[in-house]
Amino acid sequence: MSTKTLVEICPLCEGTGWKTLQTGNQRRVTRCDCMLRARAGRMLERARIPKRYEHCELSNFEFEGPHRRLAPARMAACKFVEEYPLDNTGLLLIGPIGTGKTHLAVGIIKELMGGKGASCLFYDYRELLKEIQNSYNSSVQVTELEVLRPVFESEVLVLDELGAVKPTEWVWDTVSLILNTRYNNNRTTIITTNFDDKPAGTVAGPRAAAREETLGDRIGERMRSRLHEMCRIVRLDGEDFRQKFRSASFR
Ligand SMILES: Nc1ncnc2c1ncn2[C@@H]1O[C@H](COP(=O)(O)OP(=O)(O)OP(=O)(O)O)[C@@H](O)[C@H]1O
Ligand SMILES: [Mg+2]
Ligand SMILES: [Zn+2]
Repeated sequence: MSTKTLVEICPLCEGTGWKTLQTGNQRRVTRCDCMLRARAGRMLERARIPKRYEHCELSNFEFEGPHRRLAPARMAACKFVEEYPLDNTGLLLIGPIGTGKTHLAVGIIKELMGGKGASCLFYDYRELLKEIQNSYNSSVQVTELEVLRPVFESEVLVLDELGAVKPTEWVWDTVSLILNTRYNNNRTTIITTNFDDKPAGTVAGPRAAAREETLGDRIGERMRSRLHEMCRIVRLDGEDFRQKFRSASFR
């Protein structure tokens, strides 16, 4: 038996990838749905969305009843998708732990890949810095530029948990290289963070000695101000979804 018979042939285009549209007596040839689906599928694979966020969609992000405080954030996400690519402004999703920042970010890039054909890439900030650092190790085959190229070039990048690595000179240099390169190339960046969008050294903690760290403390003031040029700010306000709602539904 030839392998050809095992491959399912698309009935719409008979495998050509093109289909004919007939409106009145006008005929037009256009990309077949099967090609668009396959393309979105390949993009999804390349986007590196972690398994535990695979279920995240804008359509299953709850924003009613007990979650109504999340409605403005979801609305901002939907508007962003609708308008993309209006300009290259990204989003800075800020909020406490477990409020759905990563869920929204993943939901957005899935829509952009499926609906707009935009290439997207997901990276956890800690993972990315670890991969870059790892590339300096001479026994590792991948070079720093090989790690960074898709991060620089992807049309849309999600940088999840910005600031989650203890800041050092190297961390600051690396994050500014990434953000500045994307900014200069007019790329769209979606960022999530738990840190308050405040200047370095400004927020007093509950105890006099303890001071809560801000985004300014974690990435530096220059990069925080760059972020304001690159992104619109969206605040997520609510309770920890993992603790409160998930565990309740497992009972
Ligand atoms: N509004 C929501 N509707 C449906 N599921 C949600 C919602 N918010 C959060 N979740 C789910 O709760 C879990 C935690 O959400 P998520 O990881 O997006 O939070 P986060 O704000 O990124 O938290 P962290 O600050 O720890 O990174 C995920 O499984 C997510 O799918
Ligand atoms: Mg998150
Ligand atoms: Zn087809």
